[in-house]
Amino acid sequence: MKQLAQSLATLQSIWPSLDPGQKDDFTGKYFLSEFFSLCPAAKKKFEEKKIDVETHTKKLIETFNFAFDSSTATGALVGALTSIGEAHAEITPMYYYFVIVSFLIALRKFMGDAWTEEIGEDAFCVLEFVSQAMQKGAAEKGLE
Ligand code: HEM
Repeated sequence: MKQLAQSLATLQSIWPSLDPGQKDDFTGKYFLSEFFSLCPAAKKKFEEKKIDVETHTKKLIETFNFAFDSSTATGALVGALTSIGEAHAEITPMYYYFVIVSFLIALRKFMGDAWTEEIGEDAFCVLEFVSQAMQKGAAEKGLE
């Protein structure tokens, strides 16, 4: 497994090239449709919690913008993810795995010929780190 810093650097070099308009397409057309088709339970979860999917997607993408910004220090990122995780106490690991798989599928479709196996490996490594930090926050909240 690669070092996180190396994988983060790869994502930080790809992500800014998706301008805001393209990012909307990425999340709206690619990521969300993949996510809800692989994991209809997530759609139900948002309905049950009365969470507006569009607003949540914006928050999710803001989190990725922060994570994939090269000026973000790893310590600050872990702190932010742990705190966001606290709002996800009921979100089990299954949902995070579907987020990761959907993100990878969406990124591959979105990047077309520019996609490489190595980018997939880096994206997996970073998303696994994001989801672990969020789950740690949720677990710590549960212990309070
Ligand atoms: C890596 C994946 C995810 C990221 C980065 C993310 C990001 C966020 C952010 C930034 C917030 C606002 C937190 C706050 O205001 O303190 C939020 C809230 C929320 N998210 Fe997520 N989210 C993710 C995955 C999910 C999934 C898979 C679900 C459900 C299937 C979900 C359900 C919720 C709910 C229900 C809230 C509102 C919590 C509340 O207000 O009590 N999230 N998310």
